Amino acid sequence: MTCSSRARALLLVALAAGARAFNVPPRAPRIQTRPPPLASAPPAAVAPPAAAVAAPARATMNGGVFTFNKVVIDAVYGLICVLYPVTGGPRDFARFYVLETVARVPYFAYLSVRHLKETFGKRAPGDNYRMRTHYAEADNELHHLLIMEALGGNENGLDRALAQTMAFVYYWYVVVIYSVSEQAAYHLSELIEDHAYSTYDKYLREHEAALRAAPVPPIAKKYYEDDNPFLFDLFCTVSDTAALSQTAEGDGGVELGSECPRQRPTLRSLYDVFVNVRDDEREHWKTLCNLVQFDNMEGAGGVVRSTQPSPHE
Ligand SMILES: [Fe+2]
Ligand SMILES: [Fe+2]
Repeated sequence: MTCSSRARALLLVALAAGARAFNVPPRAPRIQTRPPPLASAPPAAVAPPAAAVAAPARATMNGGVFTFNKVVIDAVYGLICVLYPVTGGPRDFARFYVLETVARVPYFAYLSVRHLKETFGKRAPGDNYRMRTHYAEADNELHHLLIMEALGGNENGLDRALAQTMAFVYYWYVVVIYSVSEQAAYHLSELIEDHAYSTYDKYLREHEAALRAAPVPPIAKKYYEDDNPFLFDLFCTVSDTAALSQTAEGDGGVELGSECPRQRPTLRSLYDVFVNVRDDEREHWKTLCNLVQFDNMEGAGGVVRSTQPSPHE
């Protein structure tokens, strides 16, 4: 055996040992299968009676982690509110640019960690579906960002520097948290998405006339109307029909009474664009609530609610 072939053999042995060290036994399979479309749903005669189907237990968050996550997210969001108050002027798009730059980071962080675990053989049934959904969410957030850039939100170098610095730090923070506890990392994003929904909802209510008078950016038309809807449909994991005008705060549970998937919108003005951005944030929030509470992306509990802290023992 030559020197180089011996070195290659040693390297292969070391890599195999390293991979074995990370190769933990597979977890129990999750209930992770997407519901079939209506056309292929089983006939009612074979469906179990509703009373016989036990609702899955809704998990709560450890009180300390819940409070810590809330303090972190409320502090960051509060800082953005101070630096970028909503006024109805062009600086509002800078605020949304900063928010979208940071808010899309977690989905890429989830993918990074899952990809690495996958490399080391730590796989479970349904992982590929979850990774595809997180990619679709990242793609959706990217298009929010592109819309804010098209509206001039990234014109100022200081705004770009702040947003990109926050995104860089937050990416690594989420990578660490997600590696340790997926539930805690998903809860962080649940809180962010709730803030994002509220921000856009308030903006729509307070500046409707100006938004209705403004044109649709071409990138919004391309994403919401022209592109193949596959990725759009993929991130809408929890079906409902009545939830979109409700708030996600307070006791604002979302009743899941229909299997109608969300339809892609028709855009007539910038108002419709922001309605869809807001509703996308609601979709993200619903998926995250289910991931935190059921380790599942669909409407497992029949109602989507904000995660609650565990009661003191
Ligand atoms: Fe967004
Ligand atoms: Fe979002």
